Amino acid sequence: MSKSYDIAVLPGDGTGPEVVAEGIKVLDAVSAKFDISLNYQEFDFGGERYLKTGETLPDSALEEFKKFDSIYLGAIGHPDVKPGILEVGILLKARFALDQYINLRPVKLYPNVETPLKDKKPEDIDYVIVRENTGGIYTGMGGVTMKGTPHENATQIMSYSRYVVDRCLKYAYDLTRKRNKGKQLTLVNKNNVLTHVGDLWVRAFEEMGDAEYTDIKQDYNHVDAATMWMVKSPEFYDVMVTTNIFGDIITDLGAMTQGGMGIAAGGNINPDGVSMFEPIGGSAPKYTGKNIINPFAAICAAGMMLDTLGEEAAAKAVDTAVYDALASGKIQSMSAGRMGMSTSEVGDFVASLI
Ligand code: IPM
Ligand code: MN
Repeated sequence: MSKSYDIAVLPGDGTGPEVVAEGIKVLDAVSAKFDISLNYQEFDFGGERYLKTGETLPDSALEEFKKFDSIYLGAIGHPDVKPGILEVGILLKARFALDQYINLRPVKLYPNVETPLKDKKPEDIDYVIVRENTGGIYTGMGGVTMKGTPHENATQIMSYSRYVVDRCLKYAYDLTRKRNKGKQLTLVNKNNVLTHVGDLWVRAFEEMGDAEYTDIKQDYNHVDAATMWMVKSPEFYDVMVTTNIFGDIITDLGAMTQGGMGIAAGGNINPDGVSMFEPIGGSAPKYTGKNIINPFAAICAAGMMLDTLGEEAAAKAVDTAVYDALASGKIQSMSAGRMGMSTSEVGDFVASLI
C-alpha cells in the first residue's frame, strides 16, 4: 500500500513561491516513482498577508500545522516590512512552537559548482552542521533598562539547560553514526570564554560520547578556529554540532563554500514531531517573478524532507537527480539569472532525471 503524507506548504515571500513550485515538481516526480502520495495544503503566511491583515503566524495555524507530517517553506522576508517582524513572528515562532530543536544544514559541494575555496573538490566539502535551534541567545531572555538614555543597558542571555544540550547532542551523535563517513563529531563552542555555557556543552558532549558512542571520535573546535578550518581544511569535517547563534553564523559560511544560497538547504527538525524544510537563502525580492532564481536549494530541502519522513530511497533519488543535473554541466552558474536555464527549466530538468 502506498504511503501518504500531508504537507503544509508555505511559499512565503519574494521568490519563495517560484522555488517551492520547482521543489514540488521534483517531489511529484519522485512520489510517482516511489509510490508515495503527498497531499499539499497551501498557507499564505508571509509579508503580503502581514501588510494586509497585521497577522504573522496565528496560534490557530500552529495548531493546524501539528496535524501535518511536514512543512515545506519557501522564504520569509518582505522589503516593506521592518526587519525582525516576520523572522520572529513566523520563522522563529514556528521553530519554537513546534519544538524544532535541530537545525540541520548539510554542506556539500556538488560537481561543477563553483566554490570560493581554492583547489577544493566535491570530495573535500561534504559535511553536516547540526545547529541547536530553539535555545541559547534565541530564547530572548534578557532585557533593557534606562532605554534611550546614555545609561541604557541591554542584555541578551545565552541560556542552555542540560536537557536542551543533551537532546541536541544525542541527535548529532546518532546522525554521525548513521552517516557512517568519518565517524567523527566536532563540538563547536567557545569554552575558553563561555566558562559556564561552554563548559556545560563540553561536559555533556564527553559524558554522552564516553557512555554511549565509543565508536564515534570526539573532536572540539572553538568557533573562531572552526571558521578558519572550514575555509582551509573542510575535508577534515564529518558532523559538527553547535549552539544556535554559532550555528547561524557558521552555516552561512558553510553555505558559501558549497556554492552559495542557491544550493544551501536546511531542515528545522523535531525528531518526534512536525519538521519544517527550507532553502536557507531568503526571499531575494529583487528577483521576484522573473523566473531566474536558483531553485536547487528548495529542491534539496524537499529531499531532506523526504529523508526525515523516513522515505530514504526517495530522498536519495532527489539527491542523485540534483547531482546528475549538476554533473551534466548544463547548469552554467548557481547565481540567479546566470544559470543558463530559467527557474522552471531547472525544475523540469531535475524532475526528468528522477
Ligand atoms: C536562519 C536565519 C534566521 C536565524 C533569521 C531569519 C531569524 O538567519 O535561518 O539562519 O537567525 O535563524
Ligand atoms: Mn542565518
